[in-house]
This record gives sequence, C-alpha cells and structure tokens, in this order.
Amino acid sequence: MKKLEGKVALITGATSGIGLAAARLFHQQGARLVITGRNPERLAAAQAEFGADALVLKSEAGNLQEIDALMAQIAQHYGRLDVLFLNAASTNPAPIEAMTEAMFDQVVNVNFKGEFFTIQKALPLMSAGGAIVCTTSITNQTGSPKFSVYGASKAALRSLVQSLSLALIERGIRINAVCPGPIETGGFQRLPLPPEVHSAVKADISGRSPIKRFGTPEEVAKAVLFLASDDASYIIGEEIVVDGGIRHVCLP
Ligand SMILES: NC(=O)c1ccc[n+]([C@@H]2O[C@H](COP(=O)([O-])OP(=O)(O)OC[C@H]3O[C@@H](n4cnc5c(N)ncnc54)[C@H](OP(=O)(O)O)[C@@H]3O)[C@@H](O)[C@H]2O)c1
Repeated sequence: MKKLEGKVALITGATSGIGLAAARLFHQQGARLVITGRNPERLAAAQAEFGADALVLKSEAGNLQEIDALMAQIAQHYGRLDVLFLNAASTNPAPIEAMTEAMFDQVVNVNFKGEFFTIQKALPLMSAGGAIVCTTSITNQTGSPKFSVYGASKAALRSLVQSLSLALIERGIRINAVCPGPIETGGFQRLPLPPEVHSAVKADISGRSPIKRFGTPEEVAKAVLFLASDDASYIIGEEIVVDGGIRHVCLP
C-alpha cells in the first residue's frame, strides 16, 4: 500500500532541492500534486516531469493575493487538499550592516507571514486526517551571524508549528516541522558567493559535520513523507532534525 495513495498534496517551492525531492517521493507514493515556484524554466521542467499528475503553478509564497488565487485553483482542480508541505523560503544572508528593510521584509513575508496565511487559507480545503509539514532550519536553534533574520524567521515558524498543532488537532489535522541542516540543493549552489568562497564554505561545513558531508534532498524528503503520512499519526507539533548531527557539535 502506498503511503499517500489518492491524496492531494500541495508543496510550495517544489521546483528545486528539498521540495522537488519531496514531490518525487510523494508522487511515487501515490499522491496527486500541486507544485509551486517562481522561475519559469524550473516550473516548466516540473510540469514536463510530472505531466497530468501535477498542477504546476507560479505563486509567490509571501503574497496573500497569490495565496488566495492558489487555493482557488486547487479548489477548482482537485476540490480538496490532504497534505500541505510548506517549503518555499527566502534566505537573503547578510551581515547586520548590509541588511535592508526590503530584504528583511522579504524573508519574514515568505518564511513566516506567508506560511501562516497559507495554512489559514488552506484550511477550508482540508479535513480530518490532513497533515501539514513546514520546513524550518537548524539556524532556528543555533546562531549564524549572516543568517540572523532568516534564522529568526524559522524560529517564528517553529513556534507557529507548536501553537497551531494545538488548534489544528481539534480539526483532526496534524502539523509538524522538518528541520534540515546543510543540504546539497540548488538553493545552496545559488547562494550569492564567489565560487572559491562557496567551495571553502562547503569544505568547512562538511569538515565540522560529524557525518563529514552535506545531506541530500532525498534524505530530508523521507522525513517529510513520514510526517505527512499516517506513520506519524501520533506526532503533532514536533520538529524532526535532519542534519547529520552538526547541531550537536560544540566548537572549541
Ligand atoms: N539547503 C539547505 O542547506 C537548507 C538548510 C536548512 C533549511 N533549508 C530550507 O529548506 C527549504 C528548501 O530549500 P532548498 O535548499 O531545497 O532550496 P532551493 O533548492 O532553492 O528550492 C527552493 C524552492 O522554493 C521556491 N521558492 C523560493 N522562494 C519562493 C517564493 N518567494 N515563492 C514561491 N516559491 C519560492 C523555489 O522556486 P524558484 O527557484 O522558482 O524561486 C524552489 O522551488 C527552505 O525552506 C530552506 O529554508 C534548506
């Protein structure tokens, strides 16, 4: 028996990285998909890959009007939603003196405000047995000087998951979070760093990791599938860390 047989799953930010790996795994497990992103080439590639099994939509995760339009399209196409994987995020790394108000607002709008209102606006389409998973980050539990606003937005999201778990379980809907550490994704590759700095950062993080490597998007997707499926039927308001143990490292 497939774990998501016949379920309708919306994955935000599913044209690359962790979201795309989750889309592939959900699809293998019998789900019908709604996939969002922004970049036209990546959207077209996702549509070509999943064909009629996926509604692939351009939708800005931090824009409330676009979230309304997204829900209207899902209602029209599928009439319901069983699984919501909120994965799109904005990173905007910058030291404190370089962070602008626009960069700050973008991170908070996408990673916190947009996620809250996507959940709110998805609820009319969801019923008992539904599951929501949010992608946080280990930066919500550790310090990271250039990712201060990003880490804070993910901490807010992690808090939201705890509080909403109590509200949503009254409707029979579970919400949890998956918390990745360093994962080799398009998002990591596209961080605005010169190539030599990029390689040095990757080598440094891998060297400090107990497991001595980055994780793969597929390794995170397996935890997402677990939380989204009935295998996690007694788990609510939790955050599963998928980081190869790097969060436990105490630097000298
Ligand atoms: N990779 C890591 O090391 C790592 C570590 C901790 C947490 N995470 C979290 O994991 C999640 C996925 O990250 P990833 O590394 O897989 O990233 P990725 O490869 O860059 O993929 C991000 C996806 O989100 C979409 N997206 C980004 N901003 C969006 C927006 N404003 N509106 C709609 N879609 C948007 C992108 O679409 P377009 O390309 O079309 O914009 C893409 O499909 C994020 O929540 C991130 O914070 C990642």
